[in-house]
Amino acid sequence: MMYRPREIKKNIYYVGVNDRNKNLFENLWPLPKGVSYNSFLIEDEKITLIDTVDVCYSDLFFRNIQSIIGEKPIHYLVVNHMEPDHSGAIEWLVTKYPDIQIIGNSRTADMLKGYYGVTDNVIEINDKDEISIGKNTLRFYLTPMVHWPETMMTYIPETHVLFSGDAFGSFGTLDGGILDTQLNPEWYEDEMIRYYSNIVGKYGSPIQAALKKLSSNAIETICSTHGPIWTTDENITHVISIYDKLSRYEAIENGLVVAYGSMYGHTEQLAEIIGAGAADAGLKNIVLHNVSKTSDSEILRDIFKYNGLIIGSPTYNNKLYPGVENLISAIQNRNLKNRFFSYFGGFTWAGAAAKHLKEFSDKMEFELICSPVEMKQSPDGVTCDLAYSLGTKIAERILSNEPIKTQKIDCH
Ligand code: FEO
Repeated sequence: MMYRPREIKKNIYYVGVNDRNKNLFENLWPLPKGVSYNSFLIEDEKITLIDTVDVCYSDLFFRNIQSIIGEKPIHYLVVNHMEPDHSGAIEWLVTKYPDIQIIGNSRTADMLKGYYGVTDNVIEINDKDEISIGKNTLRFYLTPMVHWPETMMTYIPETHVLFSGDAFGSFGTLDGGILDTQLNPEWYEDEMIRYYSNIVGKYGSPIQAALKKLSSNAIETICSTHGPIWTTDENITHVISIYDKLSRYEAIENGLVVAYGSMYGHTEQLAEIIGAGAADAGLKNIVLHNVSKTSDSEILRDIFKYNGLIIGSPTYNNKLYPGVENLISAIQNRNLKNRFFSYFGGFTWAGAAAKHLKEFSDKMEFELICSPVEMKQSPDGVTCDLAYSLGTKIAERILSNEPIKTQKIDCH
């Protein structure tokens, strides 16, 4: 047996790369399992490349392309997304292939000019325009804000292949296998939810619009720009359903996240008691996250995954604890909705944390579970009972499987 180029479907080749070097995606989100930048080459009458890769991997990317087409020219580059993890090699590509025609929309053209000074040979398409490349037709769907305003998807009606950009993508490198049938897809599910919640979680409505726009097309293969290629009916249905739920701000399953800051462990003790109360009420998916230890990236993943959320914070300089402040800012930034929610706050001489968490609660479309707990200095018997009761009450609401009620209530 000899090594061959990675053909994922007849005449469609994988030419992407794995990044196991960067610590942070967007210089922000941890990459413990790395990330892949997926790109695809279609060998048809007009050789077509779909997206590129991060600029750091231009050489390897070029070798992948050459292993398939040798010295032949590339006719088209389709730019589904201009974020530099996918567009980074464009400047290099137009140097290697000066006659390449670049397909995008008007917003893509603006970014090509701004990022790379590329203005020549740019073909601007509109929604649902088609371009024939031989046996295959490329049909373009504008899907703004999945994840940037210029994002679009490319569909081949003859073979029902969708090049979806960031949508349906996940963190995690492709370690040998590329197709879902060559690997364990379950391994990527949490990394897909983390990618969604960290990177595109703010854009629920545009993602719903994109899913609706694509719904009339049969889809047999999904080629995202990150993570595995989805090819089985079961996996395609599953990843679309994950995206549908997440973009409606519906949880993937019943569960509770207790995210807390704690300087000397007193606020943490309340988190433990709340968790015990929820467990005693029968809830099994319970995750306690210390904001000083666990990255917002992982906490956001679990907040999007589960339908219960309790946040706890000490008072710090008359405000929330900084890590908690960051977390609630990230939650607000993503317009999170539809959660069973409550909070607990601690203070030593003047309470502010509970007040600030109430203000946060009032702004969000959450069902507030009574009663939030406020603690002075350290947990006493009464505070422990209140925390335990809060844990059982939120678990009972989660396990009731009744709809979340977002009208505002006063617990006192
Ligand atoms: Fe994978 Fe929005 O870039």
